[in-house]
Amino acid sequence: MTYTKQSARGLRALAAAVALAFAASPALAQDKVKVGFMLPYTGTFAALGNAITNGFKLAITEQGGKLGGREIEYVTVDDESDPAKAPENVNKLIKRDQVDVIVGTVHSGVAMAMAKAAKDNNALLLVPNAGQDEITGPMCAPNIIRTSFTNSAPGVAMGKVAADRGHKTAVTLTWKYAAGDQSVSGFKQSFEKAGGKVVKELTLPFPTVEFQPLLTEIASLKPDAVYVFFAGGGAVKFVKDYDAAGLRKSIPLYGAGFLTDGTLQAQGASAEGLLTTLHYADELDNPKNNAFRAAYKKAYTIEPDVYAMQGYDTGQLLAAGTKAVGGDMKKRDALIKAMQTAKVDSPRGPFALSRANNPIQDYYLRRVEGGKNKAIGVAIKAYEDPATGCKM
Ligand code: PHB
Repeated sequence: MTYTKQSARGLRALAAAVALAFAASPALAQDKVKVGFMLPYTGTFAALGNAITNGFKLAITEQGGKLGGREIEYVTVDDESDPAKAPENVNKLIKRDQVDVIVGTVHSGVAMAMAKAAKDNNALLLVPNAGQDEITGPMCAPNIIRTSFTNSAPGVAMGKVAADRGHKTAVTLTWKYAAGDQSVSGFKQSFEKAGGKVVKELTLPFPTVEFQPLLTEIASLKPDAVYVFFAGGGAVKFVKDYDAAGLRKSIPLYGAGFLTDGTLQAQGASAEGLLTTLHYADELDNPKNNAFRAAYKKAYTIEPDVYAMQGYDTGQLLAAGTKAVGGDMKKRDALIKAMQTAKVDSPRGPFALSRANNPIQDYYLRRVEGGKNKAIGVAIKAYEDPATGCKM
């Protein structure tokens, strides 16, 4: 045997050993966990996308900047809250970037396209906001996990509150798309069950803010109460317009808590006293919330909101999952199982996931006081949405 042949064989053996070591040891330094953010960074929900990103990264910082002992590589796509661009955007993350996990998004219509792509490609999807009921209903799947809420839930909580406050008639108003429709339908369901009547359901196209004609209509309908779903930039304008139209004092305004979350600084006095329902409130007095709020403020010099909290919990949940598998993202079943069975120590209060991979949680009644969303009660305790049509 010649010297050359011998060394070639040796090299082959060495190469095989190295390849084996790489395959068997996913924790090697160069093998990062790839996290794909698909969130809105422009448009009416831009602040929401940024808050989710900040919250997620804060949770990761608290884990020493790693997931399951591995470094992280972030890939970011601005989904613009545009459902038409969603299939292409999510496919970039799945096929081009081959991320290990997708975190997204805010807008229900965009999230539906993401859920479909996640199902078709068996991609791991963590939903840090979008409440589309179907995602934890007929579209549910083990690889789709939501850390936020279901659209109908804050509405269900508020319908009961409004009826208990003695209101008999209500007008609803929202953007015409899934989140608004489902929020309003939750409100209508519980308001009417408790003896109230929704006399008119008003809508305008997402994300438009031409509220004036609708406010004129509300003024002439003179309902006992108004229930709305708006969020982000649109919510800021709506609350100011409602006040400027002189309606704040004559017809009580209620909303899903997004109406006044992350928006209070811009809404100012127009928001004072508004009642909303949500799975979070600013000053929930639990150690986790106090620590979270202090850390968030220190890192980003602004107050956190519900979106920051949801991003933070998405990071916490993924950290629990990746820890259980030592960072090996290929151990998908064990990773999912660990997340499904985790008890998340959340700033909202501890929560676990339902059989449909959606948080079981309290919905608080909140009042805007001094520029803060203060919890003044629990509207529904340990709410688990019906998850109609979910089989997995
Ligand atoms: C949604 O589209 O599901 C959505 C958007 C913004 C929110 C809440 C829900 O604040």
